[in-house]
Amino acid sequence: MLIQENISLTSFNSFGCKATANYFCTIKRKNEIDEAISWCEHQEKPFLVLGGGSNILFTKDFDGLVIKMEMKGIQLLKETPREVLISVGAGENWHLLVKYCVQKAWGGIENLSLIPGTVGAAPIQNIGAYGVEAKETIQQITAYDTHTKQWVILDNDACQFSYRNSLFKKEKNRYIIAEVQFLLQKQPTLHTDYGVIREVLHQKQIKQASIEDISNAIIEIRTDKLPDPSILGNAGSFFKNPTVNHEIFNKIKEDHPTLVAFPISNNEYKIAAGWLIEQAGWKGKKQGSVGCYEKQALVIVNYNQATGKEIYNFSEAIIQSVNNMFGIQLEREVNII
Ligand code: EPU
Repeated sequence: MLIQENISLTSFNSFGCKATANYFCTIKRKNEIDEAISWCEHQEKPFLVLGGGSNILFTKDFDGLVIKMEMKGIQLLKETPREVLISVGAGENWHLLVKYCVQKAWGGIENLSLIPGTVGAAPIQNIGAYGVEAKETIQQITAYDTHTKQWVILDNDACQFSYRNSLFKKEKNRYIIAEVQFLLQKQPTLHTDYGVIREVLHQKQIKQASIEDISNAIIEIRTDKLPDPSILGNAGSFFKNPTVNHEIFNKIKEDHPTLVAFPISNNEYKIAAGWLIEQAGWKGKKQGSVGCYEKQALVIVNYNQATGKEIYNFSEAIIQSVNNMFGIQLEREVNII
């Protein structure tokens, strides 16, 4: 395994921010993970696993080993008349996996079309969009436990998935994901409940939607609403949608009848952070090279060579201003280095 020195990370993060890794390696096979971790221990250096770099903000250089995950492969493990079980290398591109499954008419992840990043990153923040989360199809994960130096198999329960969260986020840097198994359906129940999906299908006069129709609709919606990171640096939603109790929900609703929120339990509501940020006057706002995207206030964009620090400070100003207006503390979804 080759360890390179002083490698630029600018093309390895979707914000396109300048940063350097003191040490850098790419991983194509499982045993290279053990090797990379032993190297870090020997050198007393921290490590950082990088997938597609689409959920990370570099505010400084990384003084340690950046491990770029490039393990590839899609393997069919089991097939029945109703289901398929596949094992996918952590370094596979997420959208290419979705396209592969859509083409085979295997249902379950079509609503997650066009999400940037790699398969290994999907379980970490339990990627979700348009009524579906990755946790619904993940069967098990093969990961290297850097604490015990053992390879472990974690089933769905062990992964402790919840909204944009998992064991891998809670125990940050403990597990390195090598493979993810997905259980997909040949006669899936399609998720078309999200209003905007229904609108697109209606426009196209599609009455009996297929897996491919849903995927195409999502691609259209995302292309229209979210900036393409290869054109405008960004990391998708910068913040999580916050959860509030009934009392806070009522109080905000009283002052702001247009509040966008969804009940998630008897006493809890998830509030659209994009709505909060928009109300606080940030949507479409630009400060230097950083901005709040004009079509979706949850997305922060790098207009022209902004530094990670500038982007971080901009996000801090949004958090402050939403807090002042609503008394809600937004949490970042993007990993800050
Ligand atoms: N809204 C506004 N102003 C905005 C943005 C949103 O008022 O600028 C309100 C609108 O009423 C809109 C509602 O918020 O109807 C929900 O907006 P949207 O459907 O865009 O969803 P979201 O809650 O803002 C989440 C995910 C997205 C995912 C969409 C679609 C999070 C943090 N984000 O956004 O995920 O694509 O749902 O399901 O949960 C990502 O994680 O990078 C990402 C893009």
